[in-house]
Amino acid sequence: MNLTIRPSRDDDLPAVTAIYADAVLHGTASFKLTPPSEDEMTRRRAVLLDSGYPFLVAECDGAVAGYAYAGAYRSRPAYRSTVEDSIYVAREARRQGVGAALLPALIAACEQLDFRTMIAVIGDSNSAGSIGLHRRCGFREVGILEGVGYKHGRWLDSVLMQRRLGPGMGAPPPWHESMTR
Ligand SMILES: CC(C)(COP(=O)(O)OP(=O)(O)OC[C@H]1O[C@@H](n2cnc3c(N)ncnc32)[C@H](O)[C@@H]1OP(=O)(O)O)[C@@H](O)C(=O)NCCC(=O)NCCS
Repeated sequence: MNLTIRPSRDDDLPAVTAIYADAVLHGTASFKLTPPSEDEMTRRRAVLLDSGYPFLVAECDGAVAGYAYAGAYRSRPAYRSTVEDSIYVAREARRQGVGAALLPALIAACEQLDFRTMIAVIGDSNSAGSIGLHRRCGFREVGILEGVGYKHGRWLDSVLMQRRLGPGMGAPPPWHESMTR
């Protein structure tokens, strides 16, 4: 398998939209109930890139096998150094190391941008794949919100996991001084 991790391009959007649509329709990682259109995914990616967040894809033998991006964890300004990750691998490409290549690349990109904490909000306590991948990439479980979602006929937890990025809380964020001056 020839696997490359690279920044996403406009022409990746059909594959990205299809990967996410499958996860929305058949999985519990996303609490969306209907898949967004390609236009909506295009708009979402543009907003992320315009705001300075990384959006990566895994290209496997010439086809997009997965994607990962970071976005704001919450919008209030004091949360600015904290990002939330999203990662989806095409069903047929899972358990072949795609996630294990994508997530560390996203972490490295976020450290380069001087973000300090990455949060994973994992839909469903039964999401062994996502919990296992995040644990393997240095995340620890920090909480469970019980039964906050309902999908496919059952109540779903959200599992919260967190990982330090770069110096983490060991130094103030780079934007701190300009905010207090
Ligand atoms: C979670 C997901 C991204 C993992 O991607 P993947 O390419 O299948 O993962 P990898 O093959 O790189 O596996 C990396 C590690 O993750 C863990 N893992 C992956 N799938 C697993 C599973 N089904 N059960 C338990 N652990 C699993 C293992 O620790 C694995 O390492 P190992 O193979 O050495 O044991 C993929 O299963 C997926 O897209 N799931 C649906 C969407 C989702 O849950 N996204 C996360 C939203 S936050």
